[in-house]
Amino acid sequence: MTLLLDGKAASQALRSKLSIDLKKPPHVVFILVGNHPSSLSYVSIKKRTCEEVSIRSTICHLAEDISEKQLLMEITHLNSRDDVDGILVQLPLPQNLRVEKILEAIDPKKDVDCLHPYNLGRLAFGDTSGLLPCTPYGILELMRFYDLDLMQKEVCIVGRSSIVGRPLSLLLSQKSTIDATVTLCHQGTKDLFSHTKRADILIAAVGRCEFIKKEHIKEGAIVIDVGITRQNDRLVGDVDFVSVKQKASAITPVPGGVGPMTVYALLQNSIKAHKQRKATV
Ligand SMILES: NC(=O)c1ccc[n+]([C@@H]2O[C@H](COP(=O)([O-])OP(=O)(O)OC[C@H]3O[C@@H](n4cnc5c(N)ncnc54)[C@H](OP(=O)(O)O)[C@@H]3O)[C@@H](O)[C@H]2O)c1
Repeated sequence: MTLLLDGKAASQALRSKLSIDLKKPPHVVFILVGNHPSSLSYVSIKKRTCEEVSIRSTICHLAEDISEKQLLMEITHLNSRDDVDGILVQLPLPQNLRVEKILEAIDPKKDVDCLHPYNLGRLAFGDTSGLLPCTPYGILELMRFYDLDLMQKEVCIVGRSSIVGRPLSLLLSQKSTIDATVTLCHQGTKDLFSHTKRADILIAAVGRCEFIKKEHIKEGAIVIDVGITRQNDRLVGDVDFVSVKQKASAITPVPGGVGPMTVYALLQNSIKAHKQRKATV
């Protein structure tokens, strides 16, 4: 029997345990530039989920043709506002805006998506006490929710983006707590099969529909599918779910796997940012 790692159910169960100061809840601002359909949908899901757990949220919807200078000014203003605990810039941004420059402008204490180099740097130094990158943290929490044994496992991550693959490799290779041996694969990887087939845990963050087939995985592997690609009217993952499920011991569905856990991690970061800011006032 293959265990279905149901991120929707896990995030709902975990959300009910969140501790929020209802008199003075955290306040998160989502910066949305333009009208990218997926971004509109992701931001509205994030806002709705915040409301469900009584976290205050505001959407700062800016025009597609906003200049970099104007956007930086907007972020500087939000950084200075005492009533704002978290700032999240929804990606992707229009081509004229330099993503690194925009992300670096966010106050690291309010960086609830955890994409600021300071926060990623802390993680690289092994410090997990601060904000954690949402998708990697959500994946970790999902595996913990299902009580999967992660200690000293052989993990293969396909995809090295700064949002998913790289920070996930840092999180899972933490000394003492997880101690996984992580292999990070990408387009330059020579023999992908030789790496994926060794993995106790295979994580696909590629962005290519059903890229991982059953031939890629070891019998009994845990398979985490991060990919979300819109194909016609449905969302498709990076894993060929039907064939891989026959061989895996546990697998995430798409949708309803990693996605809801990413949003759960955002809630956790928002609460943490709020508490850590209050503690330093
Ligand atoms: N569920 C969620 O909450 C969530 C969150 C974030 C992202 N996503 C989804 O996850 C997917 C990946 O997102 P991302 O932002 O990490 O993507 P990305 O920045 O486009 O990175 C894709 C990675 O896949 C690698 N890759 C592409 N083709 C490959 C191949 N044939 N063999 C080996 N590696 C290959 C690329 O290698 P190179 O570096 O060599 O180019 C790159 O490192 C997307 O579908 C995205 O929508 C989901």
